[in-house]
Amino acid sequence: MFETLQAQPADKILALMQMYKDDPRETKIDLGVGVYKDATGLTPIMRAVKSAEHQLWETQDSKAYTGLAGDPAFADAMISMVLGDAVARDCIAAAATPGGTGAIRQAFELIKMARPQARVFVSDPTWPNHLSILKYLDMPVVPYRYFDDETRGVAFEGMLQDLKTAQKGDVILLHGCCHNPTGANLNGEQWNAVIQVLQDAGATPMVDIAYQGFGDGLIADAAATRQVAAAVPECLIAASCSKNFGIYRERTGVLMALSSDTSAQRLNQGTLAFLNRQNFSFPPDHGARLVTMILNDDTLRADWMTELEDIRTTMLGLRSQLAQELQNLSGSDRFGFLAAHRGMFSRLGASPEMVEKLRTDHGIYMVGDSRMNIAGLNSQTVPILAKAIIDVGI
Ligand code: LMR
Repeated sequence: MFETLQAQPADKILALMQMYKDDPRETKIDLGVGVYKDATGLTPIMRAVKSAEHQLWETQDSKAYTGLAGDPAFADAMISMVLGDAVARDCIAAAATPGGTGAIRQAFELIKMARPQARVFVSDPTWPNHLSILKYLDMPVVPYRYFDDETRGVAFEGMLQDLKTAQKGDVILLHGCCHNPTGANLNGEQWNAVIQVLQDAGATPMVDIAYQGFGDGLIADAAATRQVAAAVPECLIAASCSKNFGIYRERTGVLMALSSDTSAQRLNQGTLAFLNRQNFSFPPDHGARLVTMILNDDTLRADWMTELEDIRTTMLGLRSQLAQELQNLSGSDRFGFLAAHRGMFSRLGASPEMVEKLRTDHGIYMVGDSRMNIAGLNSQTVPILAKAIIDVGI
């Protein structure tokens, strides 16, 4: 039977990871996959995670199943971290998922189940796996303009025009902070305008928040998500712990479905548990338990927040250094957007040929659409990248 299978398109980001691995050059620089690296190139286990693991090893006395939606304490801790008290707890259904991607997949399935014809509006560009999963689930997609190739900021007028074509029953997928792949984000006023469109159209927002704490700070990065959630009757939120807790391989995420009353909450909670059961049964627990321990313990939480702040400010420092180097080399301000972008990524706005030249001539790996992972840099490699960017004519 397997002879009927067709080769699937490679994921651009994961294919790049392999190309980088296969490159024998010692001077190569990996700005591909969105994984934080410290100045030595290591993706460290955060101190609070290590401590929580140690405590867990000492105290955990069973690996029996939790619940289909995971441990409710994890949902509580994540709801509080993402939403604060923006929405009444008894209106929120939540289920643990295998990573943020698991939450996205479950959210799309929930949408399809509730409204098979729903169109999902996605930013152009967006994280490629959004599109890949939507295609796999055969769900209608409507791209909305997002990135201005000239300014490397948000093409806000175009975005609003496109979002205004959404209708009740459609879903608008928004990146809560640190837009992937561009690094360009909406300001407060622009979020207000988007909320107005959501309210006028009656469309349902779905917020993907995978980088909370990597942009302007843990609370600041959640502000837009909280505002959206509080302003509409229904909302989906897919949150990831991969980056902000550095527990990528533990696959820790949560899907929240917000409604305006408790009977809808009960129905949603049951549906999320059902969907988990159909796809993987019980969600992974280890990462979720570590996150719960960290968020609920004052000492662990304080240490985690300090380290997260260090990571965030390191990335901001690299952004400013790169923008400055490029200003010096180019004699212009045209790279100022690098310091204005937030999160791990920036889209350089280079052609695929330039990106290829960076790879072949300089051993610098970034995604073909010129998305680069700022966290793949350090203070020594920033000047090398800056020279290469000028060299290939960006
Ligand atoms: C990325 O965008 O690089 C990360 O979210 C990792 C992934 O799974 O693609």
